[in-house]
Amino acid sequence: MARFTSFLVFLAILSWGSALVNRPDFASDILFLEKQEEPSLDKRDDVPAGFVASPYYPTPKGGWSPSWSASYAKAHLVVANMTLAEKVNLTTGTGLLMGRCIGNTGSALRFGIPSLCLQDSALGIAATDNITAFPAGITVGATWNKALAYARGAAIGAEARGKGVNIQLGPAVGPLGRKPRGGRNWEGFGADPVLQSWGGVETIKGIQDMGVIATIKHFIANEQEAYRMDIPPHGLMKALSSNLDDRTLHELYAWPFADGIRAGVGAVMTAYNDVNGSASSQNSKMMNGILKDEMGFQGLIMSDWLAQIGGVSSALAGLDMAMPGDGSVPLFGVAYWGYELSTAVLNGTVPLERLNDMVTRIVATWYQLGQDVESFPEPNFSANTADASGPCYPGALFSPTCVVNEYVNVQANHASVAREVAREAITVLKNDNKTLPLLSTSVLRVFGTDAQKNPDGINSCNQRSCNKGTLGMGWGSGTANYPYMDDPLTALKLKAANVTYYDTDSFPSGITAATGDIAMVFVSSDSGENQYTVEGNDGDRKSDGLQLWHKGDDLIKAAAAKYATVIVVVHTVGPVLVEAWVDLPSVKAVVFAHLPGQEAGNSLTDVLFGDYSPSGHLPYSIPKAESDYPASVSLMGFQFFQVQDTFSEGLYIDYRYLNKHSIAPRYAFGHGLSYTTFSKTSATVTAGKAMTSAPPTRAPKGPAPTYSEAIPSPAEVAWPTGFDRIWRYLYPYLDNPQDITSTKAFTYPVGYQTTPQPDPVAGGDQGGNPALWDVMFTISVKVTNTGTVAGKEVVMVYVQYPTDNPWDTPIIQLRAFEKTATLAARASATLTLEITRRDLSIWDVVSQNWIIPVSSSKPFLFWIGNSTAGLTLACESLSKTCSDGRTPPVV
Ligand code: NOJ
Repeated sequence: MARFTSFLVFLAILSWGSALVNRPDFASDILFLEKQEEPSLDKRDDVPAGFVASPYYPTPKGGWSPSWSASYAKAHLVVANMTLAEKVNLTTGTGLLMGRCIGNTGSALRFGIPSLCLQDSALGIAATDNITAFPAGITVGATWNKALAYARGAAIGAEARGKGVNIQLGPAVGPLGRKPRGGRNWEGFGADPVLQSWGGVETIKGIQDMGVIATIKHFIANEQEAYRMDIPPHGLMKALSSNLDDRTLHELYAWPFADGIRAGVGAVMTAYNDVNGSASSQNSKMMNGILKDEMGFQGLIMSDWLAQIGGVSSALAGLDMAMPGDGSVPLFGVAYWGYELSTAVLNGTVPLERLNDMVTRIVATWYQLGQDVESFPEPNFSANTADASGPCYPGALFSPTCVVNEYVNVQANHASVAREVAREAITVLKNDNKTLPLLSTSVLRVFGTDAQKNPDGINSCNQRSCNKGTLGMGWGSGTANYPYMDDPLTALKLKAANVTYYDTDSFPSGITAATGDIAMVFVSSDSGENQYTVEGNDGDRKSDGLQLWHKGDDLIKAAAAKYATVIVVVHTVGPVLVEAWVDLPSVKAVVFAHLPGQEAGNSLTDVLFGDYSPSGHLPYSIPKAESDYPASVSLMGFQFFQVQDTFSEGLYIDYRYLNKHSIAPRYAFGHGLSYTTFSKTSATVTAGKAMTSAPPTRAPKGPAPTYSEAIPSPAEVAWPTGFDRIWRYLYPYLDNPQDITSTKAFTYPVGYQTTPQPDPVAGGDQGGNPALWDVMFTISVKVTNTGTVAGKEVVMVYVQYPTDNPWDTPIIQLRAFEKTATLAARASATLTLEITRRDLSIWDVVSQNWIIPVSSSKPFLFWIGNSTAGLTLACESLSKTCSDGRTPPVV
């Protein structure tokens, strides 16, 4: 049984007894607050010298960005009339398994605000029925198609709305993919901040255009699964600390979050890990400083599930919503917030102003997405069971019974969106002798268990925590149930008359290959979330590393020894090493199908048989050896008390590192072949806004809502008369609130202050100083299909900084990309790509601002191509000329 499930069962048994003892008197006990509280925010584990989680207080209030003012005005009217209990109710989850969704807040029904339903995942509506299991984020990244990313986001949003989900827990833009073995890289869009940003932004727009609040996660530097969580009691073993410097934070990991916030995302989820020694859910620098002040985030910040490790500390540091509400150990009916937050406000420890801001942010976000309409459905499904009826609160000792699943079908025509994404992601890495496309008369001998659906049932493993059958997604909370699996074998049989399948990962004995037979070998590499260990991989790709699973290398080599033509199809969460077989003479074609979700079959044969030319491109590099990466991106092993994961490679991840060290990858970032050819001609560059080193000064913040600061009457959190309590459900109420009269002696963190900080120079609106998105250069290029079949081409622009740039900067960095529509043979299209101020800037840690290293003699170069390799066409910022035939900047 999955580790997580057994852990829950264990806890449930434990809590059966303890709840009876603890529950009745906890609420008004101020000492209990002290027990729940982390002793002091200043007590941090030692992190390596130079990495600082500096304090940043108080929390900047939301409501000053013009694009949110109408929603904040509505929220203000409501929150001004709420009781303390109603306010607290909205900030705190009702507890694990205490409602239909993976997370459920309390409600404020007097104002029409329901219990909000929070539901995974980044690729669809998790743990329910009649939905679409979309391709994973990494697959979207491989399409390099912004319109498709939007279409998938809109379809996810429509399904979420149809199921009554208020807050969808995606997209994931962290992890970024710093560690190729990292377990959850596949939930995001690729190992580059700009590619990751676009995936996130278009997904957010799609989801939110359907009126559902999107959640950008996990903030921040959540780059490996092992040791990601605090082990209670807190302090025994802390969550690993990601230690990174300010410039790396801004130029890599925070970049996609800034863009998501600029796009108006409603929610941010914190990460499990510490950042520079301070837990993400109570890291004041990250939440108050970076998210809410510098990036001007107007929505709500929620904790990742059970990532909250302190009540007052997290409130002061900027957290707005505790999820799923429980304290460090779930199902005990105890919380850091809920009744404890009521206590902390009544005794003056948490300023009422902070609670008001939390609630105003939550209510304003609800208005901002237009959820205050009758037509927004209540949840009509249960993430806890597939049964039609069952306990309303499965985590309770005794629960009333409810109708929990109404099996509402929300699929509409989304299967076609899913198929389009899966198809357009298909990345052909090698295609010697034009082996692809295949003919319907091709004689196909298919090997590998990955070619057909899991024989035990497509959803037989909890949250896909096994690698059996076609790999359509990784494992963990980032999944959805398959409504069906269109597997490759079935699709191949629809296209070719002569298909023989060998359902094995070991090459069968006694095979004779006839001339002209084509062997198709299906192989995979899987990873997922840390609560499951699958074939020795505890989330991260620990045991198989970057090798194929199930001895895939051997299967390919054996097939290559028998057959003159071998086509390898790889379903994978990320880069895999291909050196063992890629150069074998009979391995003619290699196809990465990434993680296609439910549409694995026809999307693949659409390309294999030439109905569509492939146009997917790698969203990461494929190195020749794992040792080609810096040692610092290896998985971290056990260390006593806290694992210190120091990002000493700084900006140099993936191609940035390989380029710096002149290490030629096997397949470059962006690599992907087509059945046709394209030329890129008539490139032009025109200047936009004037180049100044610092951006124009930001505007000061506008006003935010204000409320009475008088501590509310304790009666506002007394149990309502005749209230029927559900044991272990988390409430805002207290048994004897009138006894809470004194201010508790709480040790505030060093640097705690209530006077607002000066406006950060890099801020100014959602995402940061709006001038950062001023267009400095516009590049246009004519793409012509010079081959004989229709196809699509991606144009990527990589920026190279002036050679006199004093800052150590990667040689080239992706800054813009666009994809053509389908171009018929000989047809052309002109693509326009914009380079913004931020694209040319470095983050200056001294001035805390984005600075362009302006040079009067050395130009910026804008390299135009379709991967980091073979770049020969470039435009220059000073002469405003473009020329082809140049020496590529990187190997
Ligand atoms: C933990 C995961 O890290 C997060 O991504 C997910 O949304 C929550 N669990 C809820 O399942």
